[in-house]
Amino acid sequence: MIEELKKIAGEAAAERVKDGMLVGLGTGSTVKYTILKLGQMVSEGMDIVAVPTSRDTERLARDCGIKLTTLEEVDMLDLTIDGADEVDSNLNLIKGGGGALLREKMVAYYSRYEIIVVDERKISHTLGSFALPVEIVKFGARRTMRRLSEFGCSPALRGGEKPFITDNGNYIVDCKFESITEPEKLSTTLNNVPGVVENGLFIGLAKEVYVGTKNGVKILKSRE
Ligand code: 5RP
Repeated sequence: MIEELKKIAGEAAAERVKDGMLVGLGTGSTVKYTILKLGQMVSEGMDIVAVPTSRDTERLARDCGIKLTTLEEVDMLDLTIDGADEVDSNLNLIKGGGGALLREKMVAYYSRYEIIVVDERKISHTLGSFALPVEIVKFGARRTMRRLSEFGCSPALRGGEKPFITDNGNYIVDCKFESITEPEKLSTTLNNVPGVVENGLFIGLAKEVYVGTKNGVKILKSRE
């Protein structure tokens, strides 16, 4: 059932991609359906060029016959479609469950428009149900984690004894907060810690969220 909700959201968002667009492709099991749908649209004649946000997405998009480029080669992307782990009532997000938050945030930053695809379980009033992923460098990782705990969270190194390594060669620390009432402030605080590369709070980047619900796809729009 959840898979069906991911599929309807992912496929509906693909309809927003038009011929000639430069498109950012997110990472995860929901946006996978967007990418598969785009592959079908490309096979039917649509011409797009895409920037993937992870090696996994790069492989999938290539297998689907989607033309790829890199962030270096583009100025601004027309549209990025990506998933999220949690979405609040202001369309602020927690991302990074799949470990691709750094590239995802860079691609979102260089996109004119960002659409998020989720199933209805991801919607919450205030962020914090999902542990916030933070990408950190390996050097001094345990020390960085102790510092992060001083901001009111319990940090856990993803993968534990066999740490998960991001596409950028870094670690991910999952930081469980009780609730994140001031996401913008927290994001700045975390990114100011030396050793932190980027955190999974996406503030003001999502313009629309396609939510797969039992009653079809609901579209949430940013108030900006
Ligand atoms: C990867 C992400 C994903 O977009 C996020 O984890 C959602 O993934 P899924 O659609 O599989 O639940 O941020 O870094």
